[in-house]
Amino acid sequence: MAHKHFCLKCNAVVAEGNFDCGRDADHTTSNFAPSADPEKKRRQIGSGSSASSSRMFIDSAELYDAIYTFKNYARECDRLRNLINALVPGTRTILDVACGTGEHAKFLKEHYAIDGVDINESYLRAARLKNPSGNYVRADMMNFDLRRTYDVVTCLFSAIGIAKTFNRLEAAVTCMARHVRPGGALIIEPWFTPDQWHPTTPFILVGEVGAGKVYRLSNSIKEGQLSILLHHYLRATPANIEHYSARIELGLFTRDEMAWAFEFAGMEARYDVEGLMGRGLYIGKHDTRIRCGLVRPAEVLGKANRATR
Ligand SMILES: C[S@@+](CC[C@H](N)C(=O)[O-])C[C@H]1O[C@@H](n2cnc3c(N)ncnc32)[C@H](O)[C@@H]1O
Repeated sequence: MAHKHFCLKCNAVVAEGNFDCGRDADHTTSNFAPSADPEKKRRQIGSGSSASSSRMFIDSAELYDAIYTFKNYARECDRLRNLINALVPGTRTILDVACGTGEHAKFLKEHYAIDGVDINESYLRAARLKNPSGNYVRADMMNFDLRRTYDVVTCLFSAIGIAKTFNRLEAAVTCMARHVRPGGALIIEPWFTPDQWHPTTPFILVGEVGAGKVYRLSNSIKEGQLSILLHHYLRATPANIEHYSARIELGLFTRDEMAWAFEFAGMEARYDVEGLMGRGLYIGKHDTRIRCGLVRPAEVLGKANRATR
């Protein structure tokens, strides 16, 4: 029996063994034929003017909170509090970098004054609702300056992978470290290392957005030191079934690269294998013996060249 093979980004038919149709265009598209009804057509992805509304849906806080219901933020925050209280007793202020929709702040706000930084305005709006006394700022984690420091800075749920390259990893960790007060701590939950990343196992998440259901079917590939997640969303509303797709690229950093990024930022880091949800945790504190902006040792430089595109 002949099987058709599809581009994992846009579902165009491709030759056997291929994942990508090679098209440069925005791959956000739909399998569904555009409807003759202009209103339905507007909501169907791939019908020209809907590319931005598709982005809006994919980047919406509603989708984020619907899809990640498997995460136990309450338990993670209990673990985080135990860690913070042991690391930096008397902690009052926390900055959560790449804070998403503020799910951690929801459980931490009773105990600390917690602010957040994220690139996505829809997520920030949700975070402000969950934690009205927090200061939420739209900024790039690789380059931001809030002109103040915190007792603890966090960057959770593997958001650090967004840095993608080693140079940007150094920039992000240095930027976060600058926001940690002397004696404070920087806590980063990593993404997978190159050795841990085994692509090709598809997985499905299901959630509810408003009156509709959303299925997210994901596949993954590896390109050099990047993990690529190909997400396909099917959103069923009472009126329609819509299809969206998105490609997410996350850097795969080794433990040495992570440790070096902390050292580069003037911090000494230790690694906790279990962490909050089994992905491990880097815990950094300023080390007065380490000068910021060190020259990379040769073994790290080799890795940096490999990881930098
Ligand atoms: C996997 S989510 C983690 C969110 C949150 N920390 C959590 O635990 O739910 C990654 C987050 O990184 C944010 N993000 C992506 N690129 C960013 C950037 N350049 N600077 C700051 N945040 C970014 C996304 O908007 C998203 O909220």
